[in-house]
Amino acid sequence: MQQTLVLIKPDGVQRRLCGEIIGRFEKKGLRLVAAKLVRPARELAAKHYAVHAGKPFYDSLLQFLTGGPTFAIVLEGREAVAVVRNMMGSTDGAKAPPGTVRGDFGISVQNNLVHGSDSPENADLEIGLWFQPDELVSWTVADQSWIG
Ligand code: RTP
Ligand code: MG
Repeated sequence: MQQTLVLIKPDGVQRRLCGEIIGRFEKKGLRLVAAKLVRPARELAAKHYAVHAGKPFYDSLLQFLTGGPTFAIVLEGREAVAVVRNMMGSTDGAKAPPGTVRGDFGISVQNNLVHGSDSPENADLEIGLWFQPDELVSWTVADQSWIG
């Protein structure tokens, strides 16, 4: 079953939206496999967003991500990567459609509440950055056959 890394970014934690955001993913049918509150070092933030190194917003992005606690989560389920990306909405909160996390709770480009892996390959890499293998818990949801 596919896994994806979700980060509730420091703005989401500071605004006490962790429960709201995780609740949406849970109700959709994804299951929690790992979760922890992390204050990431700059090195971890830099590795996580290495693809953006050199872009004008990169330094500000690292300051944002290291500026407070982040809630790091691994979610599992059918098409988990795409399901999370669709539920997050587009990067700019001002343009993200209502019904998405970013569309419902923010208007900033940078402080957009949530990160989701953008491919299964990147999900595996990112999960390895944020979690040790023994922090992932494998379990079966009682109503799995109804969820798909
Ligand atoms: P994410 O990686 O966090 O899931 O977000 P994303 O795919 O929607 O957006 P991406 O292009 O990967 O950008 C990563 C994060 O950098 C910040 N950003 N700031 N000031 C800007 O123009 C700008 N552009 C991007 C956002 O926090 C974005 O989520
Ligand atoms: Mg991205």
